Amino acid sequence: MDKPRPARPEEFTEALDFIDRVFRPGQKGRFILQSNYPHAYRPQYAGRILLLRDQGQIAGCLAVHPLTLRLEEARLVAGGIGAVGTDPERRGHGIMSILLEEANHRMRRAGYPLSILWGDRRRYGWFGWERGGIRNNFTLTARQLGPPTAAERRLALERFVPEPSLCRRLRTLDLHHPYGVERPLGDIPDLFARVGRQTWICREGSRFAYLAFQREGRQRRGQYELLDEAGGDAELGRSMLRVLMARSGLSRLQASAGPNPDQVALLLPGSSYWTRECSCMIKILDLQLLIDKLQPLLRRRARQAGISGRFHLSAPGQEALLDLGAGKTQQIELDEQELVGLFFGLHPLAERLAGEQGMELLGRILPLSLYIPTINYI
Ligand SMILES: CC(C)(COP(=O)(O)OP(=O)(O)OC[C@H]1O[C@@H](n2cnc3c(N)ncnc32)[C@H](O)[C@@H]1OP(=O)(O)O)[C@@H](O)C(=O)NCCC(=O)NCCS
Repeated sequence: MDKPRPARPEEFTEALDFIDRVFRPGQKGRFILQSNYPHAYRPQYAGRILLLRDQGQIAGCLAVHPLTLRLEEARLVAGGIGAVGTDPERRGHGIMSILLEEANHRMRRAGYPLSILWGDRRRYGWFGWERGGIRNNFTLTARQLGPPTAAERRLALERFVPEPSLCRRLRTLDLHHPYGVERPLGDIPDLFARVGRQTWICREGSRFAYLAFQREGRQRRGQYELLDEAGGDAELGRSMLRVLMARSGLSRLQASAGPNPDQVALLLPGSSYWTRECSCMIKILDLQLLIDKLQPLLRRRARQAGISGRFHLSAPGQEALLDLGAGKTQQIELDEQELVGLFFGLHPLAERLAGEQGMELLGRILPLSLYIPTINYI
């Protein structure tokens, strides 16, 4: 078996065919990942796909897409893992394990402090990924939103077309979010106008709002399965929701949003019910680098919380110093999963480890709200 290596440009189509064989057996040529995630699977990004070949044939693959995460004032690049697949005939022989180890090695070398992916906790838990981050789920109901007024019915709702001024507007709105993933302007058309997605916009004087829906069902009543992003003017956004839900005869609609205040403010008034869940699975690849990137944010939070001190954090294979100013040095030893819980847990680790040395102090500035918008999935 060869060592995994990045695909060459001329191997891109073969890699996409292999991925179809893994994820959609018998449907060769659909390029399922490329049509679902056109911003990530472009020929020029062939090198993001790691291929493992045996006797010339692809036996396994995995992709690593760099995602620049926005966490308040901090920016850090995470290696986003996708397209994890092994030839159906060759499963259970450690091919995925080899690919994941190789990806970890390469992501550390590229200077990514974190890696994120979506998948089974047990499958990826062996390799140090743990569930984390935050995503809000809202159940919007016609009852809570109320019927559209006559004026709302007259609003001009348009389907998103990727004209430059509109792309810039969508990007600018996102830039103001404290939590999310940076979206280069050139990615906006692929992010908002692609197979299985329907984005509506409304311009009303100086007001602007958008609603991005996932999957357009075949039946009229199931037209919108999920509203996975809403933004802009909150009132106008809710007016659009009233109109679109009335047009489709929907009495309820699931919506998801990040912990960004404007997104929550748009959806919450029209919701009958809401929950929070993890946004993804996270692995901390380089603890010291992560702390260095987060240092200004953590110091600001520490000042605001009135805490200081030095925290020597250790986990298997990693140790790092978090310096929050003068004070005694506390030793904190955690396992890999707890480390994710400390920084990005949905259930704050300090609640679980209440009473443990140093945790009470760190619990006043952590966890952070890491959020990967559904639109940025890879
Ligand atoms: C998932 C998939 C990639 C696994 O590939 P594989 O080459 O068979 O995996 P490995 O042989 O390295 O590992 C086999 C299992 O041992 C597990 N394992 C790894 N290290 C282990 C350890 N130390 N102890 C116990 N189990 C371990 C792996 O998590 C994996 O679990 P799984 O059966 O839930 O997948 C393969 O089944 C596949 O292609 N499935 C279809 C596509 C898919 O679902 N991809 C994942 C999308 S998130």
